[in-house]
Amino acid sequence: MIFDLRRLRTQWRELNARVDQLERKLRETDGIVDALLSDADYTPDLDLGMNGQHRRKEVVEQLFDQFAFEQVLETGTFLGATTGYFATKFRVPVYTSELMHRNYHFSRRTLRNLENVKLHLQDSRSFIRQLSTNSEITSKRTFFYLDAHWYDDLPLEDEIDLLAPSWKDFVILIDDFQVPGDPGYQYDDYGPGKALTLQYLSAAVKRHQLSVFFPKASSKTETGKKRGYCILASPTLADGMKGCDLLVVAP
Ligand SMILES: C[S@@+](CC[C@H](N)C(=O)[O-])C[C@H]1O[C@@H](n2cnc3c(N)ncnc32)[C@H](O)[C@@H]1O
Repeated sequence: MIFDLRRLRTQWRELNARVDQLERKLRETDGIVDALLSDADYTPDLDLGMNGQHRRKEVVEQLFDQFAFEQVLETGTFLGATTGYFATKFRVPVYTSELMHRNYHFSRRTLRNLENVKLHLQDSRSFIRQLSTNSEITSKRTFFYLDAHWYDDLPLEDEIDLLAPSWKDFVILIDDFQVPGDPGYQYDDYGPGKALTLQYLSAAVKRHQLSVFFPKASSKTETGKKRGYCILASPTLADGMKGCDLLVVAP
């Protein structure tokens, strides 16, 4: 029998992608059912939020010590784990947007007692566009957590193009990003031109004169899901970033 190897490989890749998708859906549904059965309220836990990555939380906390951010903007609420972390750890207003009704309603329920959380059921781009018209919000020193990537439509570059001209003082943490030289950190790849790498970001970084940093800690010392990430700083905060010794400048 003659096999068409290329076709088999494509079918195998598609099947794997579908299995990944179904596993993710199952985990999501499990989490929702568990939380609904226990009538859960958000309770802070070192393993909750930031993918359970303790080293990464140390980086975020060092950045807050250094810059005293006045608010957080998150894209991609999902089940609110990191939203709850920001809201309880730093006690600043946390604005977050989620596209999927079920995730939004779930988070609304579990985060209902955190008055500083503002949940938006909205695409991340229209969310940033809407907040960028409010000068009370754009004038504040802001920590952005960009994590609205899961589907073929990747909003990341648009998000940066929308926020960078409107806010002056900001730091951005992008989740699921390739850490150069450390393959132990996992990152997202949505196909040609849509892998979360320095190359994907380079035009936006240049356009907005952002400084780029990566974690100094090896993935071997990281906990939880070991997702890679990068940090971008606005030109106004570039000097202050020198005080953050848990990060290294991009190669
Ligand atoms: C990786 S999860 C976010 C995890 C969450 N930030 C956390 O740390 O627990 C990605 C979420 O982004 C949402 N999402 C995807 N595209 C989006 C978009 N364009 N606007 C808003 N949310 C989006 C997905 O529905 C999913 O809930």
